[in-house]
Amino acid sequence: MSRKPTVPQGKPIIGILNGGGDAPGLNAVTASLVKAGMDTHTFLGFFDSFEGLLNGGDYCVLDKNAVRGISNKGGTILGTRNKGPFSSKIAGGEVSEIDPAIVAECKATLTQLNVEALVVLGGDGTLNTALQLAKGTGVPCIGVPKTIDNDLAATNATFGFQSAVEYVCQALDRLHDTMTAHKRAMVVEIMGRHAGWMALHGGLAGGADIILLPEIPFRYENIINFIAKRNRVQHRAVLIAVAEGAHAEDEEQVRIGNREQGEWRLGGIAEKVATAIEEALPDTEARAVVLGHVQRGGSPVAYDRILAFEFGVKAYELIKEKKWGYMPARMCNEVGEVPIKEAVAKLKRVGPDDGLVHTARAMGVSFGDK
Ligand code: F6P
Repeated sequence: MSRKPTVPQGKPIIGILNGGGDAPGLNAVTASLVKAGMDTHTFLGFFDSFEGLLNGGDYCVLDKNAVRGISNKGGTILGTRNKGPFSSKIAGGEVSEIDPAIVAECKATLTQLNVEALVVLGGDGTLNTALQLAKGTGVPCIGVPKTIDNDLAATNATFGFQSAVEYVCQALDRLHDTMTAHKRAMVVEIMGRHAGWMALHGGLAGGADIILLPEIPFRYENIINFIAKRNRVQHRAVLIAVAEGAHAEDEEQVRIGNREQGEWRLGGIAEKVATAIEEALPDTEARAVVLGHVQRGGSPVAYDRILAFEFGVKAYELIKEKKWGYMPARMCNEVGEVPIKEAVAKLKRVGPDDGLVHTARAMGVSFGDK
């Protein structure tokens, strides 16, 4: 794909870009949107998130050839960023304003390229930035919800989540084998930021004995008692799925490094829990495993491809109807649309009475709170 190509004229021009961490299914959204809309619109893909709007634009023409054979590929052909001058993360309740000089530069690019609207694929932070840019540049936007964390309240599903959960489940299956062979406590750290959906779904499917979530603060003594009890009945191996944002009742989340532009990085809770287990139960060997970014890579599972196609086609329909400021959302069994404002207003987190928490408890899983 050539960068800064001549832009074909004659049809309305729509820009597409990503923001935030990648998620399996981004390419499938891009492909379905372009396939659905190429007869009526010209699509430009901007590289590396909003930064592709700077310096006159870094873009390609997304035509049939450009999107051929990409739907089953992980990552994104357009690149993405979750840090830098466009971060306006709201997850912790904080929102920052994009520098007006940067907004003006984006406006100049969009005006020069005659872009009628932008389709922005992202989570809460990215969609917030999209709204700010739409206001500042006068170029409206359509959102497409994306996050492996599945934490957007406005949609009950986001593509990438099922693919990530599938990987977590497979990893836990493997760890279960080696853990049982060595009679160890295996503490597995799972992504998800402030939401425990990945740890809950992946942990339950992967046979975790203890699941620790950001939404259900735990007590170390409860974890220790649970393991000690298992040891007494000769189990001696225990699988603990811990969300990266989980924390003890009297502790904060464990963070890594300094906050740059963007959100704090979370990580280190698995090591902390493993150390606490070994200190309290010297006969129990505990190992921490951080699954990390492998959870975000790889080919989207079939469910995520289908959801991505539905979102891509719906995004095109929203463009046709000029329903600016809206995004596709899956509610019950249908894809509808909601205002982006709603999507960025509230995170969807695991409720203590969530059905899956209930199911897990009934099966003897401990959440470390009792
Ligand atoms: O939001 C998606 C996510 O994968 C989170 O689960 C995780 O905390 C974060 O992104 C990691 O981001 P980065 O790629 O910057 O380390």
